[in-house]
Amino acid sequence: MKTSSPIVIAHRGASGYLPEHTLAAKAMAHAMGAGFIEQDVVLSRDGAAIVLHDIHLDSTTNVAQCFPDRARTDGRFYAIDFDLQEIRQLRVHERTHLDVKRNGLAVFTERFPAQPALFQVPTLAEEIVMLAGLDRSRGQSTGLYIELKSPNWHRREGLDLSAAIVQVLNETGYWNRPEQVFLQCFDDQTLRQLRHDLKAPLPMIQLIGDNSWGEDSEVDYDYLRTPKGLSYVASYAQGIGPFIPHIYLGKTASGDVHLSELVALARARGLLVHPYTLRRDELPKGIDSFTELLDILIHQAGVDGLFTDFPDIVVDFLRTGRII
Ligand code: G3P
Ligand code: CA
Repeated sequence: MKTSSPIVIAHRGASGYLPEHTLAAKAMAHAMGAGFIEQDVVLSRDGAAIVLHDIHLDSTTNVAQCFPDRARTDGRFYAIDFDLQEIRQLRVHERTHLDVKRNGLAVFTERFPAQPALFQVPTLAEEIVMLAGLDRSRGQSTGLYIELKSPNWHRREGLDLSAAIVQVLNETGYWNRPEQVFLQCFDDQTLRQLRHDLKAPLPMIQLIGDNSWGEDSEVDYDYLRTPKGLSYVASYAQGIGPFIPHIYLGKTASGDVHLSELVALARARGLLVHPYTLRRDELPKGIDSFTELLDILIHQAGVDGLFTDFPDIVVDFLRTGRII
């Protein structure tokens, strides 16, 4: 039986309030009491590990204004085509659409304004140093939750994402802190390499996407959610990070919540379950409120952790049983 309280993972920081993956959003998440703060990591051309969700820079920075002639033929600006000193010249803004009809408009319309661009892209090392400093000044021990983004794509471009992240964790002293660091990835082979070849002493989470997304990976997510697939995951990882609709399937005509067996199957194999992403402003179909979503995932499904853009709300809910 599960007894401990779920961990709160600030998804891209307190990204419901400040532009994702900025140091400001991470500091806010720290102040809100998130137990873990997420870092999505990609590489610059010169191999620096930077904290950025996309392999592209154009949805969250002013790269198109700063370097208008540096797009590839598909029109996108790739982080891996820029040296760190060039990425440092960019300013980060709230995530915006890129399509012709909505170009420049915020994806989440009630959040921080899409303009101006005030912030910078941090390196992983810089973010770790800042969080360690806040841990010290606030008397906390906040965890890192690092995602290796598109490792196969990086390899095809000639760079080793795993090696770069391992180096930063070694240099900052976090490589041997299993209580304070999770590694996560959508690609099973990358996690297996970390576990078996690089001897990672850290807990790892197999992210589970949806086959329909066409992720850059050979992974069959439908298989990973089966009993056999979950036994395979348990051979190299400590948990899974599923998409919420893989747990909450909807409601019956009479309004009863319909849950999948995924949490029970995972738990039977000793796997933690950390679903993504809880957003107050983007509720799953059929869910009326953020409180209802929290109640379903925490009390009915019994998950072990939650990725959320709104860590303050989840922290309050876990402390008081309601949303303040
Ligand atoms: O890493 C969990 C969740 O963040 C996966 O989705 O696309 O937000 O990185 P994404
Ligand atoms: Ca992520």
